[in-house]
Amino acid sequence: MSLFRKKPLDDLRAEAEGHLLRRSLGPVQLTALGIGSIIGTGIFVLTGTAASQHAGPALVISMVFAAVACAFAGLCYAELAAMIPVAGSAYTYAFATIGEFAAWIIGWDLILEYALSTATVAVGWSGYFSSFLRTFGLSLPPALTAAPGVVVTLADGTVAHGAFNLPATLIVLGVAALLVKGVKESATANAVLVGVKVLVLIVFVAACARFVRAEHLTPFIPPNEGAFGAFGFSGVMRATGIMFFAYIGFDAVSTAAQESAAPQRDLPIGILASLAICTVLYIAVAVVLLGIVPYRQLNVPDPLAVGVDATGLRWLSPFVKVSALFGLFSTMLVQLLGQTRIFFAMSRDGLLPPLFGRVHPRFRTPHVSTILTASVVSLAAGLTPIGVLGELVSMGTLLAFVLVCIGIIALRRTQPDAPRPFRTPGMPWVPVIGALACLAQMLSLPLATWIRLWVWLAIGLVVYFGYARRRSRFAPPRVASVEGAPAS
Ligand code: ALA
Repeated sequence: MSLFRKKPLDDLRAEAEGHLLRRSLGPVQLTALGIGSIIGTGIFVLTGTAASQHAGPALVISMVFAAVACAFAGLCYAELAAMIPVAGSAYTYAFATIGEFAAWIIGWDLILEYALSTATVAVGWSGYFSSFLRTFGLSLPPALTAAPGVVVTLADGTVAHGAFNLPATLIVLGVAALLVKGVKESATANAVLVGVKVLVLIVFVAACARFVRAEHLTPFIPPNEGAFGAFGFSGVMRATGIMFFAYIGFDAVSTAAQESAAPQRDLPIGILASLAICTVLYIAVAVVLLGIVPYRQLNVPDPLAVGVDATGLRWLSPFVKVSALFGLFSTMLVQLLGQTRIFFAMSRDGLLPPLFGRVHPRFRTPHVSTILTASVVSLAAGLTPIGVLGELVSMGTLLAFVLVCIGIIALRRTQPDAPRPFRTPGMPWVPVIGALACLAQMLSLPLATWIRLWVWLAIGLVVYFGYARRRSRFAPPRVASVEGAPAS
């Protein structure tokens, strides 16, 4: 059936030719790659939202739940990634192994992961930017620092309403400008940025730990307030769905399968080690943050900065803010780059219009796609509250992971002999538990987020059946019929 038409593996090999990747990454580099993509708005911003609105100190439990689910799904992701001889995303893998329709659904769904998470991180960046300006006594008008519908509490306790998040919009455009010009992937710059992100979290924990007060951490699981997700066990589950966002990015490790010197050994090390290191860091940050500030006060765009301010450590505040700004910038760079590369692949396969595959003659980057994507993402960042964005990113990514987990079980049956440089251990339990854990987190997210997901997927179906299916490079050639002469 045409929905299951596959992209031949030979095609993928041909595409890979000319930019063959060197197998140079070892376990340490893979782990660093993972950590660099993982740490971002999740820990710097959503920690405050999830603790103040849903879980209180039990946010720590949510963080462990989310990490375990990611570890199971990550092992499945690694098998799929290693099966395909080119670097790429779940979209490419699905096209070669399951078929065009599944690839389309995953590709469309991944827009929520990559493009929308760029917007989410941009809103987080904006929060720290405003906070950084305040360090010097400067402040932007509240209407220009938050999306419509967001209530901003000012330093004097009065409230104001957001209209448009200008810094979030501008930073997305800045990231896009860099991407159009072409950022040289510099291992050194990447290592420095990863180092800065990790260092700031360690310094935060080390410097603030002595200000932790046990009464802020009790009750550890605040009782439910009557609605699903408002504290209690359901609150912990909802916070898990939100904090899942904080771990997104470990899949970057599996996409480097082709550059890994020993994928069977090093991919699981890279995935599990980066998840483990981030989980330990996240838990330490959460315990300290929730121990120095009552969790109700953390519903702010810059919770770590609020934590530092509560300790009175004046020297630490600018360091945390500047590091957050650099760290979040690098996360956006990776995510927007990832989105344009997925669009590039979809366009090359004919599923999206050719302009998404157009390459700038001098910069050799997909400039049109980058500019178009960044325009939409920057508007989303300017007009949407961070909670709405973050939950939808979690939802979309969780769905992609569920599909990947199911996909590898199916592929073990349909293509048992395909070469698998990495095999998920513990079949079929690892993918089954991975899929169920991701599904449980999806179920904990609000109905409104589900509706947004379905609307998004419905639009995707319309585009697929209205455009992509017929324009696909793998569609059978159309037979021209001359009037009067039946087409043969
Ligand atoms: N995990 C990434 C972040 O928290 C997406 O920003």
